[in-house]
Amino acid sequence: MIELKQVTKRFKNKAVVNNVSYSIKEGEIFGLIGPNGAGKTTSIRMMTALLEPTEGEIYINGMKVAKNNKKLFEQIGVVFELPNLYRKSSIRKNLKIFADLYGVKDSRIDEVMEDFQLTDKQDMRVEKLSKGWKQRVLIARAVLHNPKVLFLDEPTSGLDPNTQELIRRYIEKINQNGTTIVITTHDMNEVERLCHSVGFMYQGNLAKKGNLKEIIQEYKEANKGADISLANIFAIITGGELS
Ligand SMILES: Nc1ncnc2c1ncn2[C@@H]1O[C@H](COP(=O)(O)OP(=O)(O)OP(=O)(O)O)[C@@H](O)[C@H]1O
Ligand SMILES: [Mg+2]
Repeated sequence: MIELKQVTKRFKNKAVVNNVSYSIKEGEIFGLIGPNGAGKTTSIRMMTALLEPTEGEIYINGMKVAKNNKKLFEQIGVVFELPNLYRKSSIRKNLKIFADLYGVKDSRIDEVMEDFQLTDKQDMRVEKLSKGWKQRVLIARAVLHNPKVLFLDEPTSGLDPNTQELIRRYIEKINQNGTTIVITTHDMNEVERLCHSVGFMYQGNLAKKGNLKEIIQEYKEANKGADISLANIFAIITGGELS
């Protein structure tokens, strides 16, 4: 379980995450959604100890999130939008560096390369790969050590439909095997397909949080029973008009 307790992040006195408290259940796929600049990436950076909260605390499976908590890093995997790979090294070498760091066997490298169809390309230098293929390497690297919790910041954005589908199926597969997933995305269809629960962030606040089906039902009832999509709900929460 992930728990945020009154978490605030200020940059130069401006709260970009503002006194936010919520929890994410073990085994669920949790979608953190909201407009550009809402504070999603900042939240994930705090949950993964890349950024320290100005105030508040975060716990993952009872462990306080902190930079020096080595045990925490054994349990989490992270994929950010920036492809922070060794550009001059091959796919395999990039995975091997992480595998060694985590004490992961070579056979596991082969396994994740199979999952992401990287086997044939394993000797290619990362700098020669297109965005989608780099993204496969990034996710493969993040799951090498079988983390209990996987954080994915916009994992499918800007990718072709086949690659998006491969990634979504992989997310579903490891979730079925017990991995908790925290994902951000601007694709509301993706959220409806993948997520059990969502947290809507708006201007640094948690505007709404809960079970996805229940939230949709709640807005449907408020909308006199007419069907309502997550994109409609997004528009309502962010002050847009319902079309
Ligand atoms: N290091 C930083 N210094 C100053 N301001 C920052 C810093 N990092 C983020 N911000 C600001 O914090 C706010 C939230 O940014 P964040 O990246 O968390 O948004 P986001 O919800 O992930 O948006 P997007 O959907 O565009 O990815 C933005 O206004 C951003 O400019
Ligand atoms: Mg972001």
